[in-house]
Amino acid sequence: MSDLISLLLIGTGITALLLLGWWLFIASEGVYLGRWVVILLYDWFAARYDGIKHYHREYEEMYLAKPVMEAIAPQCDPLVLDVATGTGRMPLALARHENFKGHTIGVDLSRKMLAQAAKNIYPYESATFMWCPAETLPFADNTFDVVTCLEALEFMTNPAEVVKEMVRVLRPGGLLLTSQRINTKLMPGKTWTSGQLQEVLKEAGLVEAKAQIWQVDYRKVWGRKTGMSEPVGAKPLEGILECPWCEKSLMRREGNDWLCDNCKGKAFVGKDGVIELYPLY
Ligand SMILES: C[S@@+](CC[C@H](N)C(=O)[O-])C[C@H]1O[C@@H](n2cnc3c(N)ncnc32)[C@H](O)[C@@H]1O
Repeated sequence: MSDLISLLLIGTGITALLLLGWWLFIASEGVYLGRWVVILLYDWFAARYDGIKHYHREYEEMYLAKPVMEAIAPQCDPLVLDVATGTGRMPLALARHENFKGHTIGVDLSRKMLAQAAKNIYPYESATFMWCPAETLPFADNTFDVVTCLEALEFMTNPAEVVKEMVRVLRPGGLLLTSQRINTKLMPGKTWTSGQLQEVLKEAGLVEAKAQIWQVDYRKVWGRKTGMSEPVGAKPLEGILECPWCEKSLMRREGNDWLCDNCKGKAFVGKDGVIELYPLY
């Protein structure tokens, strides 16, 4: 009898541990274990990510590229920053839009997701990918016409700071598109209610914030940075990429690398074309 109870207890313990592991690593994608675990998991799943997500070209066009292009019309050549770009969903949707003449910079901390993004974007040349954290974007204030960040804020350690950082690099009057996770069951404390989200956006300096039905797990959230300014338009990276190490000078391209003349910091470019600003040493 006591052997049976012991077996039952051991079985229950093992099941509980398995469930906890499933919740921590799979269901909540590592968010309770810190940034490094989140990124490690994305690195592991990068090759399978698109297969799991099943993005449909027509839906991406209809629900992402088209509304962005309509919101910024008549501008066709926006300079876009896609934060936590993953496998390049947003850059690809824009590249495929018939009127898009702009350029998208996609940043992410998972090098393997970026490698996949570089593959996905081929043969379009309207995107550049950079290995860099969302928390410290290497661009001056007011650099971009559009900043996007989809299905990613809930994975950040301090999402409100990331929103502020995105708004910082957005030009006055520029467009922000992000997402609100609405399937919150498995991520308690990591998602925002609509009220909390409105507060965060207002605090960051956004106006006209509105949420829109989109996918089962997410709403799209739109906003504009307060103020007005002329469109920036697509421009070469050489004029906008700041040194992430000294933060005092623009980086310049030399051969296959990016150099800072001030602190002599150097960023390498991978064989896939991804600019490696991370690790920041
Ligand atoms: C669910 S995926 C979304 C990818 C893409 N935006 C999409 O909609 O398909 C979340 C992405 O956020 C990235 N990520 C998480 N934390 C990050 C951080 N602190 N800085 C940059 N990227 C981050 C992950 O590497 C991953 O690629």
